[in-house]
This record gives sequence, C-alpha cells and structure tokens, in this order.
Amino acid sequence: MQEKKVLITIFGGTGDLAQRKLYPSLFRLYQKGHLKDQFAVIGTARRPWSNEKYREVILASIANLASSEEQAVTFASHFYYQSHDVNDTNHYATLKNLADELDREYELDGNRLFYLAMSPTFFGTIVNHLKSQGMLTSEGYHRVIIEKPFGTDFATAEALNKEITNVFDESEIYRIDHYLGKEMIQSISAVRFANMLFEAMWNNRYIDNVQINLAENLGVEERGGYYDQSGALKDMVQNHILQVLALLAMDPPAAFNEAEIRSEKIKALRAIRLYDEEEVAKNFVRGQYVEGKIAGRKYQGYKEEENVNPDSRTETFVAGRFYIDNFRWSGVPFYVRTGKRMTEKGTRINIVFKSVPINLFSHSFDEEKQNLQKPEPNVLTIYIQPTEGFSLSLNGKEVGNNFNLLPVKLDYRNSAEIIANTPEAYEKLILDSLNGDGTNFTHWQEVAQSWKIVDQIRKAWDNDTTSEIPTYAAGTMGPDEAFHLIAEDGFEWVWQP
Ligand code: BG6
Repeated sequence: MQEKKVLITIFGGTGDLAQRKLYPSLFRLYQKGHLKDQFAVIGTARRPWSNEKYREVILASIANLASSEEQAVTFASHFYYQSHDVNDTNHYATLKNLADELDREYELDGNRLFYLAMSPTFFGTIVNHLKSQGMLTSEGYHRVIIEKPFGTDFATAEALNKEITNVFDESEIYRIDHYLGKEMIQSISAVRFANMLFEAMWNNRYIDNVQINLAENLGVEERGGYYDQSGALKDMVQNHILQVLALLAMDPPAAFNEAEIRSEKIKALRAIRLYDEEEVAKNFVRGQYVEGKIAGRKYQGYKEEENVNPDSRTETFVAGRFYIDNFRWSGVPFYVRTGKRMTEKGTRINIVFKSVPINLFSHSFDEEKQNLQKPEPNVLTIYIQPTEGFSLSLNGKEVGNNFNLLPVKLDYRNSAEIIANTPEAYEKLILDSLNGDGTNFTHWQEVAQSWKIVDQIRKAWDNDTTSEIPTYAAGTMGPDEAFHLIAEDGFEWVWQP
C-alpha cells in the first residue's frame, strides 16, 4: 500500500470532534499503513497548548486502540500544536512557516488537507486567510474538509459556499455528512444495483412506501445551546435523511463513480416536491420530548435540559411524508422519522412492497386466529445501526394439514466481529479525501436543494406561532400525530420497538 504524503491542518484541534473521531480515525489509518512516515498534523485552536500537551491529548484519544506504547508515541510525534486566533492575520504567517517547515522535514510534496472542525461562523474567515496568507501556494494538492452544519438555511449556505469557492475549487471541497461514511449506507447501492430482484422492482409499480428511521435514545447531551437553535429538522433531515433518501431514490448511475452518482442524487433531490405551508401542515409533524423512562431510567424533558430555553418551541422529533415527482416514484410516499430520546437507537430503512393483486388465501380459515387470512406485504429492511444487515420478510405456509400462511424472515446480520472491525465513518471519509475521491461527500447542489426543501418546512413552522408543539414522553417513538400521519394512508410504521 502506498502511504499518503500529507500535511493535515485541523482547525478546532482541541475540540470534542477531533478527540473523539479525528485522532482515532487518523490512528487507524496509520495502523493500516495509509499514513506512515511522511505525514504531519498541525492542530490549531485558541488555547495556548504546547506540542507536549497536545501529544498527551492525542495519546489519550487513542489509548484503547494502540497495540504498543511505542506505536502510539511514534504516531503522536507527528502532531504539532499551534495556538491560533482565526481572525488574526499574523497567526496565519506563523502557521505557514510551520507548514513549510513540516513540508520539508517530512517530504510531503506540498500536499495539504485542511480540516475545519470548529464553529461554522469561522469557516469563511479561515479559508480567506488560507489564500491571502499563501498557505495554498505549495506544490501539491490543497483540499478542505468542512464539518456540518453547512449554513443554517439556503441563503446562509449559499453565502458560505461563495466564500469557500472563491478559494477552493468544488473538486477540492469535501463537505462531510458522516452518514455517507457508514458501511450500511454505502451498501444501499450494493443492494440496489447488484440484485436484479430488487432493481427490477424499485419503482412505484411494486413499492407501496418507503420508511426511513433515524431514531436516537440519546437526548441533547451537552449540546443544548446548539440544538435549541437547530432542532431535528436541520440537525438530521436536511443532511442525513435527505442523503439517505437520495441514495434510495436515485436512478441507476451510468457508472459507479463520483460524477455519475452525484448527478443522479441531485436529480432525485430536485424531484422532491417542495411544499407550501398548507402541504407542510398535512405532511409533516414535529414533536418535543417531555419526561419519561427509557429502560427503566427516568429522563427529564427537553425544556429542562441545560442551555435550552424553558419556553423552547424547538422540535426534537420530526416525522414526515415526502413525494418524489418523477416517473419512478410518483405516488409513493417516503416516510421519514427521526428524534432524540426515542425508545432506542435505530437507523433502519424499510422498503414496503405492494401486496399481491388478488388474495387467493382469504378463504382459507385460520382456526386459531378465527379470521380471514391476508398475506403480509414483503418488506426489505436495511439495518444501518446499531446492527448491520438486511432482512426480507416473505410469506410461507405453516406446516400442517390446514393452509395457514406463515410470515418468514430471511435475515442477515454482520457479526459482532465484523462490526468491530468495520472502519469508522470518519476513517473512511478521511481516507477518501486523501485519495481525492468525493463520492461520499455532499456536492454543493445537493446541499442547496436540501436546504430549499427544508426551508419550506421551517418557514411554515416558524409562521405558525400559536399551535402547540405535540409532545412525546422520553422513551416512546414520537407523538401520536406521527402515527396518524402514516395511518391516514392505510399504512403503519414497520418498525415499532
Ligand atoms: C449528528 C447530529 O449529525 O448526528 C447529532 O448533529 C446526532 O445530533 C448524530 O446525534 C447521530 O449520528 P450517529 O452516527 O450517532 O447516528
């Protein structure tokens, strides 16, 4: 394997994301040989840390991954700390000197990856300075990874994008949506495009509805301040849910590469119906959790959480119905559901197929149940987390002299061992960016369209200042309204933990 020669500069190097995700991911890439001798990392943030202090933090963040102390210490020796005020032009000069020096010392061929892992308010300032202070004049490539949120609505996202594209070309910009690095999200394409069985039926003639669940049992943890401004719609629907939806709904790409996949995803997103206020009220439900129990433990309500406005109208739950107005999907509802403090953590997709046109079994009598039989619809489930795998529910016949239908489930799950060895989303995405592969990142046009869709919903909710926000007890699957939404169409949520 060829090692990647690169200087990685992390803005937000002392932060939570860096410590929990980025350093462990870089370490795994190191263990696997993608990073070896010719790499260096500069961590920047305001705090006045020394290299020694920084390396201690690195060591702590990889403590349970290293196979030997020597390995860990050698890895950490590639890390350098530079205290930095993003608004101070002089600081970029210091940063540039350090970068040039490390470039020479580690023979990095001038390759530079900038990772913006701090408050989005600084993204524009940072990239402008990178250019004006000559950080982008080295010989190799210059790429930037940008953490979410990319803007807070279409207008702010567009302004941010302008600032960034003044400095970097679209092909050099890697907008992170960590869901795209998840193993099972990537395998949506395998299920769809490597199985004739499914691809042939992947349309409105055979599919009744699609259900995308991104449920969490966690609350807002220490992020009350951010979350209360954002809410579930912007935190989960604008990015993760719409990305998953695009992967499920897009047409088969002409080739399995970045350009073709992007172009199909964008087309799918553009075909999603934009709702007016009345349609939002009909198709979307919000909710906020109140006190309740999960697995026997009591949790406080959202309004009681730290840094949350006690009168907050922020939604911690969203359920909705999207329509995709194209030939393939016309008439098929795509239900989405996400929230905090739900019954359990579960990211799973259910594809519900249509029922057979005539029920041949309605008159076979089910003696035990004393009712008429009806075959259950076939459901393909893609389990993304915490378990990973697929299941397909079918109808068989119960063994015996009578003719009772028996629902059976073909079930495949990755073993605990495979899951434990699965690269983390961040590890895969960082490696992709080092390889110059933007397939699993979000293109500007995808971000733009997602905001346009979400802005319509947000606007309708913001204009409605009087109606009560439906509540749900912590530990449940959302407010009653979310169940009514799907029941209205004669369906139900397949996943009911
Ligand atoms: C993040 C959201 O993007 O995704 C968080 O900001 C959420 O609120 C998280 O908890 C969920 O990610 P995962 O990988 O734990 O499903």
